[in-house]
Amino acid sequence: MIMLFYKIIKIGTHGNNPMLPRDTPNLGQGLPGGSKHYRAFVGLPENYDIVSSMQFNLLTQMNLRENHSVLDIGCGSLRAGRLLIPYLLPKKYFGLEPEKWLIDDAIKYELGQDIIEIKKPVFSYDEDFNFGAFNEKFDYVLAQSIFSHAPEKTIRKCAIEVEKVMKPDSIFVATFYEGTENYTGTKWAYPENVYYTFEKIKKIFEEANLICRRLDWNSGLQNWILITKPENKDYSVEFSDFTKQTNMVNQLNSYKEQLKKIESHPYVKFGLKVRNILNKIRH
Ligand SMILES: C[S@@+](CC[C@H](N)C(=O)[O-])C[C@H]1O[C@@H](n2cnc3c(N)ncnc32)[C@H](O)[C@@H]1O
Repeated sequence: MIMLFYKIIKIGTHGNNPMLPRDTPNLGQGLPGGSKHYRAFVGLPENYDIVSSMQFNLLTQMNLRENHSVLDIGCGSLRAGRLLIPYLLPKKYFGLEPEKWLIDDAIKYELGQDIIEIKKPVFSYDEDFNFGAFNEKFDYVLAQSIFSHAPEKTIRKCAIEVEKVMKPDSIFVATFYEGTENYTGTKWAYPENVYYTFEKIKKIFEEANLICRRLDWNSGLQNWILITKPENKDYSVEFSDFTKQTNMVNQLNSYKEQLKKIESHPYVKFGLKVRNILNKIRH
């Protein structure tokens, strides 16, 4: 009974991470992605900080300045917004998110009301990509971990709507999971991931009169794409050597994780055992 009480208190404060001080607020650590906690709902809580910085770094490496406007599609619990809002000038951050509670919790636990009053970010809780409601054309558009859960018709709708609020030189960066086949379901899949070929994604955007290219920015998690209007088709970005190096390290870590998963599969484990036995017999 005492142990149970202790566990409840522990989860209520800093989760299961013994590395964090006892008075650390509830970061959702240990919860699976998709759980009803503002950090866990948008992905693995242990990656919350790094996915914040990865998005912020990408945009600033692509020359985002404080006077630019940013549309964050499916902004969730402001994983990117908690860095972008303080950086940008007032009324320059626009977040669209159907789950209002995520934004409310992010303001309560991450940002605080003062910064909202100073920076005046604009939010919409719509799920039909009605970007026109913001009455704005955006310099930058971000969609991190949206197409990795969306059915084709949703990506198509997003592409058509986003084209209307892009300027000739707007930069739109987004992620998806690249696969060899295309998700054919009609429902938003979460927390599961869905996969598309790059050719499919490219075609969806082309049909919305946009150009879609691969972006050489490896988050170690998903594949990034760069979407522009045809007028801006020659836009290119060169990441610094340091960034390239970091990206390679991230990619290597991601491959190591995948290898670990493959090696823990029962068939592979069995195969490895057989190989060891055969090696012993041979020598
Ligand atoms: C995996 S989370 C990513 C959130 C955020 N982009 C980030 O990186 O933290 C996916 C988000 O998309 C939101 N979402 C679901 N359907 C949507 C829709 N139709 N339009 C916009 N966002 C949607 C979810 O509520 C969720 O917050």
